[in-house]
Amino acid sequence: KENILILGIETSCDETAAAVIRNGREVLSNVISSQIELHKLYGGVVPEIASRKHIEKINQVIEAALKEANVTLDEIDSIGVTYGPGLVGALLVGVAEAKAISYAKNIDLVGVHHISGHISANYIENLELQPPFMCLVVSGGHTHLLLVKDYGKYEIIGMTRDDAAGEAFDKVARAIGLGYPGGPKIDILSKEGNPNAIKFPRAHIEDNKYDFSFSGVKSAVLNYINSCQMKNIEINKADIAASFQNAVVEVLVNNAVHAVEEYQMDKLAIAGGVASNTSLRKAMKLACEENGIKLYHPSPIFCTDNAAMIGVAAYYEYINGTRHGLDLNAVPNLKF
Ligand code: KG4
Ligand code: ZN
Repeated sequence: KENILILGIETSCDETAAAVIRNGREVLSNVISSQIELHKLYGGVVPEIASRKHIEKINQVIEAALKEANVTLDEIDSIGVTYGPGLVGALLVGVAEAKAISYAKNIDLVGVHHISGHISANYIENLELQPPFMCLVVSGGHTHLLLVKDYGKYEIIGMTRDDAAGEAFDKVARAIGLGYPGGPKIDILSKEGNPNAIKFPRAHIEDNKYDFSFSGVKSAVLNYINSCQMKNIEINKADIAASFQNAVVEVLVNNAVHAVEEYQMDKLAIAGGVASNTSLRKAMKLACEENGIKLYHPSPIFCTDNAAMIGVAAYYEYINGTRHGLDLNAVPNLKF
């Protein structure tokens, strides 16, 4: 078939999203309805509110995605939907919707792993990118270093033992009063701060050098703020933000570059919300140039949660023959 059209659906957290993808790499539409303004009031994502909002928005978002792509459901070859990991109530809305459309319109259904989606976001604007390559996925819920052996085939090289990188950004941002989501705010504030002002710890994991840990650096920031308050010293938020970011970025860059070299890859891709961090991009670019590694990353809009990346991942599953039945269920702690 000449043109394969995938309708991607993503509702794993606080974004209700739908997209239409042609032949795996071309984004015909990418509609995202963000709930951030709602969750901001509570300082983080409230699962019950997320599910309710997804239910309210999902039909409009899908309609908008089809309209923008100028296609009808009858032309769609397959529906790709995130079925995990994520918030169970949020995932269920997307999965139930995808199954309903699949059944009513007799369209093939493909369940997609959310992290496979994040990785696949790199295929959108980097048409020459093909496996194998190393990928660092850094988001609010995940921090994984993976070897992408083939489309949809991954080997985990390292992962976080505790907090995800984005989670640490969000918690530190909250501690210095920046609000939710904190990552982008720390990114901006850091530009006014000194990244070497405060020496925060870089965790090294004994038994797997490619694993990460971010709870230590987060606690160190909280302790630093407390000790300043006890001594009545005014904190410099920009210096804290820049020094924290520097500590996180250094570990991410070191681990990723070492993994690329040890596994004798020549390509590194980064993905997930934190992959849009300007300091991480800059440091990673520099380290890759120094080591002869080709670096790939999606545009910021494809780094944070979206359905285009789910449609892309679904396309490669679809052409490899993956099909899911109407017994597809949401799996909140879905493993690879
Ligand atoms: O990929 P994503 O939208 O959702 C998950 O799958 O988790 O990632 C959201 C995370 C949040 O923790 C947010 O603070 C972080 O990505 N983030 C950033 C930046 N933009 C988003 N962190 C650091 N710098 C940024 N510019
Ligand atoms: Zn995500």
